[in-house]
Amino acid sequence: MVLSKDYGQLQRQGRQLKSRIAESMVFLRRFVGAPRQVGSVIPSSPYLTRAVLDKIDWSQVRNVAELGAGTGVFTRSIVRRARPDARLLVFEIDPDLQRMIGASHPGLKLYGDAQELPAILEDLGIDKLDGIVSSLPFTVLPPAMTARILDAVQDTLVPGGKFVAYQYSKIMKRHFESRFSEIRTSFVPINIPPAFVYECRGDLRKK
Ligand SMILES: C[S@@+](CC[C@H](N)C(=O)[O-])C[C@H]1O[C@@H](n2cnc3c(N)ncnc32)[C@H](O)[C@@H]1O
Repeated sequence: MVLSKDYGQLQRQGRQLKSRIAESMVFLRRFVGAPRQVGSVIPSSPYLTRAVLDKIDWSQVRNVAELGAGTGVFTRSIVRRARPDARLLVFEIDPDLQRMIGASHPGLKLYGDAQELPAILEDLGIDKLDGIVSSLPFTVLPPAMTARILDAVQDTLVPGGKFVAYQYSKIMKRHFESRFSEIRTSFVPINIPPAFVYECRGDLRKK
């Protein structure tokens, strides 16, 4: 009895490992094809995923966007954490990655370029977002694109709403500081590469 339970658990872990390896291979191929768009060779670790998503009080979130979903490591956890009545808009510019997420989350709202965030909210009749989670590689994206996406983030967050973004360096810190009044930084060493998590709030343009 105990043995069969252990065996079942082992089988489940084996399946999870296999799908993680397959996911990492897909991601690596996308990175080789478009390094400046993908920005990383491997999906985020569970430690980084947790560090980012723990910054949001999911019980208060009704409308939330994820920017740069990749293979969906954050998406899976957001779906688990979000309220049943929450609306999650997922942005991933790579159509193949977008299809991959769609296959495991039928019914999820999937979009392409994060620059379209304000236009999409308008189309959906959503006024503002309570939170935005970003995995975008801002330092390697074209600077004009990074600026437009950060403008879009500020334009679409409710006052007091949180923007949580991870980065592999501190280069973006001063950009975030020029836009948000409250910033908390933490560091997650167990990730490839290790990452800084920025928790940003308070639009400085509205002061
Ligand atoms: C560093 S990967 C993160 C993937 C995943 N969230 C993770 O943490 O493992 C960044 C992702 O952002 C996507 N991306 C880059 N520019 C984008 C844009 N303008 N709009 C939406 N997604 C974008 C890339 O295709 C890539 O999948």
